[in-house]
Amino acid sequence: MTRSRVRVALATSIALLVAGCGGAGGSGSGRTGGGKSLEVFSWWTSGSESEALQVLQKAFTTADPGVTFKNAAVAGGGGSNARTVLATRLQGGNPPDSWQLHPDQDLMSVVQDGNAADITDLYKSQGWEKQLPASVKAMLQKDGKYYAVPVNAHRANVLWTNPGVLKKAGVQITDSTTPAEFVADLPKLKAAGVAPVCLGAKDTFAPAQLLEVFILANLGPDGWKQLLTGALSFNDAKVRTAVTQFATTLSNTNSDSAVLTWDQAALQTAEGKCATNLMGDWAFGELTGKGKKDGTDFGHVTFPGTSGVFDFVGDAFVIPAHNAPDPKAEKAWLEQLLKPEVQTQFNLKKGSAPVSSQASLQGYPDYQKKAAKDFQTLPIVSSLAHAQGAPAEFANTYLDAVTSFLGSKNVDAFLKTMTSAQKTQLGD
Ligand code: BGC
Repeated sequence: MTRSRVRVALATSIALLVAGCGGAGGSGSGRTGGGKSLEVFSWWTSGSESEALQVLQKAFTTADPGVTFKNAAVAGGGGSNARTVLATRLQGGNPPDSWQLHPDQDLMSVVQDGNAADITDLYKSQGWEKQLPASVKAMLQKDGKYYAVPVNAHRANVLWTNPGVLKKAGVQITDSTTPAEFVADLPKLKAAGVAPVCLGAKDTFAPAQLLEVFILANLGPDGWKQLLTGALSFNDAKVRTAVTQFATTLSNTNSDSAVLTWDQAALQTAEGKCATNLMGDWAFGELTGKGKKDGTDFGHVTFPGTSGVFDFVGDAFVIPAHNAPDPKAEKAWLEQLLKPEVQTQFNLKKGSAPVSSQASLQGYPDYQKKAAKDFQTLPIVSSLAHAQGAPAEFANTYLDAVTSFLGSKNVDAFLKTMTSAQKTQLGD
C-alpha cells in the first residue's frame, strides 16, 4: 500500500472509531446534550504533553467557566494519526473548535486551503505583535494577516545522552564534535554493551528527524534553507555524506526501534539501555516529568555539527474559517495562550521555550533557559520532518523516502526521489 492509501485507510478506521466512541460526531456535536463545549484537537497524549495541555485547559476553563473543555487529542507522536483524522474532519465540514499545527509552511498549507480563520483583529486587540520575536511573527502571517497563535519554541537538534554509559565507553560528545567523529565513535559505544543510538521509529518523524540533523550538520543553516526551496539539490555531495552517516547510524540502533515510540526511546536512554537519542526537547519535558534528573540520569548536547543553529519546531493553534462551532469561545481560548503566566507554566511542562517575551523564566531548569537564549540569538531554521519547513506534499515525500530507506539503505534511490520531488513539489 502506498503511504497515501495507508493514510486514507487509517483515517477511515480512526474516524469510525472516534465516531463510535461518541467523541467527535457531526458538526456542532459539542453543543448537543445541553452545555456548551470547546473541542481542542492536538496530538498531545504523552505524559508531559497531556500535563502541558492541562495548563492551557485550566487557563481556558478559569476564564470561561460556562464552557466545557473537550480534549480531542489523537495519539501518535509528531501528529501522524492526528493529521489524518483532522484532514477527514475538515473535508467533511466538521472542524474542531481549535487545532494544533506548526507555524511556517504547515500553517501556510491550511491558510492556502482556506481552513484557518483570519485572527488579525485578536493580534491587534491583545497587543501580541509587541510580545513576539520577528522571526516567529513572519511564520504566522500571510499577506499581512495573522492566522495562528504560537505557544512555544521546541528545538529539534538535541542529542540526549546517558552520562554513565558515555563515561564507561570513554566517549565524549561536545559542541565541537563533528558528525563524522560521532559516527566514528559508535563502535566504542556498542562495545560498552548498549545500543549506541536509541531510535523510536514507530513514530515516523523520529528517523526523519535524525536524518534531518545529519543534513543540517553537513550543510549549515543557509544550505538547509536552500535545500528546502530547491536552490540546492538533494544530489549535493554534502547531502550524500549526511545520508551515508545516517545509514551507518541506523546499523547502530536498538533492535526494537520499529516498535518504540519517541518517549519510550528517550526513557530507554535515560535508563541506560542506549547511549544516545536524537529528539526534540519535548523529550526534556517528558524525562523531567518522569522524575529523571538532568546531569545524572541523562545529559544533552546539540547534535554534532549543529551547535550554531536552532532547528525550530513550534506549536500553534488555529480556529476554523468555516463551520466554526463557537467563534466566541474559540477566541476566548486563543486569548489565553500568550498570557505570560500561561506561557511560563505551559512551557515548563512541555520542555520548550516560551515565545512571549513577557513570560518569566524564573525557576526554569538551566537547559530550558539556555534553549530560550539560543532561540533568541542563533539562526533559526524550520524542521522538515515536522512539515514546518516545506509544503506538506514535499514533507510527506521526505517522510516516505526515509521510511523506505530504513529498509533499503539505498542512498542513490533516496537522493533520486528527493531530487525529483524538489523539481515537482517545491516552488510556485
Ligand atoms: C510537536 C511537539 C510534540 C512532538 C511529539 C511535535 O511535532 O511540535 O509538541 O511533543 O511532536 O509528539
